[in-house]
Amino acid sequence: MRYVGANPVFADVDPLTGNVTGETVRAALTPGTRAVIAVDQGGVPLDLDDVRAVTDPLGIIVVEDAACGAGSTYKGRPVGAGAEIAAWSFHPRKLLTTGEGGMLTTTHESWASRAKHLREHAMSVSAADRHRSVLPPAEEYTEVGFNFRMTDLQAAVGLVQLGRLPEVVARRREIAARYQEAIAEIGGLRAVADPDYGTGNFQSFWVEVGDEYPTDREGLLEALARADISARRGIMASHRQPPYRHLTPERGLPVTERLTDRTLILPVFHALTGADQERVIAELRHPGGSGS
Ligand SMILES: Cc1ncc(COP(=O)(O)O)c(C=O)c1O
Repeated sequence: MRYVGANPVFADVDPLTGNVTGETVRAALTPGTRAVIAVDQGGVPLDLDDVRAVTDPLGIIVVEDAACGAGSTYKGRPVGAGAEIAAWSFHPRKLLTTGEGGMLTTTHESWASRAKHLREHAMSVSAADRHRSVLPPAEEYTEVGFNFRMTDLQAAVGLVQLGRLPEVVARRREIAARYQEAIAEIGGLRAVADPDYGTGNFQSFWVEVGDEYPTDREGLLEALARADISARRGIMASHRQPPYRHLTPERGLPVTERLTDRTLILPVFHALTGADQERVIAELRHPGGSGS
């Protein structure tokens, strides 16, 4: 946003999904709002129709940030399918990776052409057409562009990854279901769950540590680490980072801050064994108390 001279305005999120909703977006609108970036945070699908019910009548574009969403669904379709434009990440942390890089998907042919143009230094002739030609056309660089190309080698890796995505998501959902079942019986912990309109890929299986739990989030992280289990703090909040701190809205972002301060992300990877998962669960039941 800052790269194009836009001013970010932060909206709060729903406590159950960690995503913006129509209501939280409405509270953040200003007369200058041109676009809303709505995230499928950690792979939990956002309620896009609810957000678009607020933005569409005002002519505001929703950019779906589906960076974490490969394999998640919204109302029976892949997340991102209902957005005019969606952004994807293929960073190694994601379920579908090409080592680095990402992708845009859009329902507008003209936006797709423009993105392709800009990613190749805004050349009037694509590199593919240039290399294919016998008599090379004279290209022109029509504006200031970027080098945002993905290599063919990365794309080949990505296509194989795409074929494996259903199997990877199915295994992660199995692991998530076991965590959810166990965590439902532990007082003071709340596990991320599917919203009623979609299914998540459980890229980041987060747990909120409530007041009734015997320790706080930091205490639980440490107890897990002492048991040689590496968890992660929940999703960071951009408005607390130095370049954006001055943009914290006056109304505050209480739900975002609560989730950022109180959540942690448990180990989920498709090769996680049942025995290792039970070790994590035992530690959650008795943090620091299982003889470690
Ligand atoms: C929600 C979200 N958006 C954007 C990104 C950035 O993706 P990349 O690092 O591939 O640019 C990430 C990466 O973690 C993310 O989780």
